[in-house]
Amino acid sequence: MSLESKRLGPLGVEVLGLDLREPISDADWQALRELIVREGVAVFRDQPMEAGVQIELGRRFGELENTTLDTMPMDESKFLLANVDPQGRTRSDDDVLMQLVAINESWHTDSSFRDVPASFSLFSALTIPEEGGDTFFASLHLGWDALPIEEQAALYGLRGHHDYERAYALRDVDMRTVFGGSAPSATHPIVRRHPESGRTGLYVSEHVFAIEDMPEEEAMTLIRHLLDACADPKRVYRHRWAVGDVLIWDNRSTLHRAQGFDPDRPRVMRHVRVAGSEAAIAATPSDPGRP
Ligand code: SIN
Repeated sequence: MSLESKRLGPLGVEVLGLDLREPISDADWQALRELIVREGVAVFRDQPMEAGVQIELGRRFGELENTTLDTMPMDESKFLLANVDPQGRTRSDDDVLMQLVAINESWHTDSSFRDVPASFSLFSALTIPEEGGDTFFASLHLGWDALPIEEQAALYGLRGHHDYERAYALRDVDMRTVFGGSAPSATHPIVRRHPESGRTGLYVSEHVFAIEDMPEEEAMTLIRHLLDACADPKRVYRHRWAVGDVLIWDNRSTLHRAQGFDPDRPRVMRHVRVAGSEAAIAATPSDPGRP
């Protein structure tokens, strides 16, 4: 079974002829999952959907993450990522939720601060500003592929420390004021094997601030270099949103970042995040995964 799709650039495809709001057969569902794993990002145009529909779609991929980091059950409002309050008024810069919007402007992959990071994210556009607020995607596989073989060899065995709290601290924000509690941080292999495709990729982001057993300066230089390999503009897909767009991406193989926008213009997105089912698998010289 294959789905009709159109390539969008170095990564990402637009899926044609599949309405996510209609019942989807198991065969189409399997084909969709394989497509997203292979291409990193799937774009669906003009499919505005209710929260319940998006949440159920997410559940078909697996258990959902509690994105608020508290232990309260998720209600529909908690899936919104918005610079406006429930009355539609834009939030002020010092509103803690604006910190969450701002931090997404760094290259990252969702919830890498957890021991078992997110697998897929489903993101839909409810209100978008006329300018700005695009989302950029980069492939952790293509970043790895772009490295010379001797550089690749030196990366096996390295482990990066993903620290969301530090990312906030760099912006002079105490993360506990955003989430009401400190975020866990986690250490993951820098070179990982994708659990579904077996493909080798990097696992770095702008939320990695240390590499185990490496002096800080050397670690930060290496992380920057690896991020540059992934986020080279010729390997990036930039999504300009329209209301009703739905994107599904695979966090195990992609980085993303939001473009800034005028904070006085409303931007309302809904983000459903699917929990991963296993910790990142290290690729090793004897079991490097497939190119
Ligand atoms: C995110 O980083 O999860 C959201 C990206 C965006 O707001 O465009």
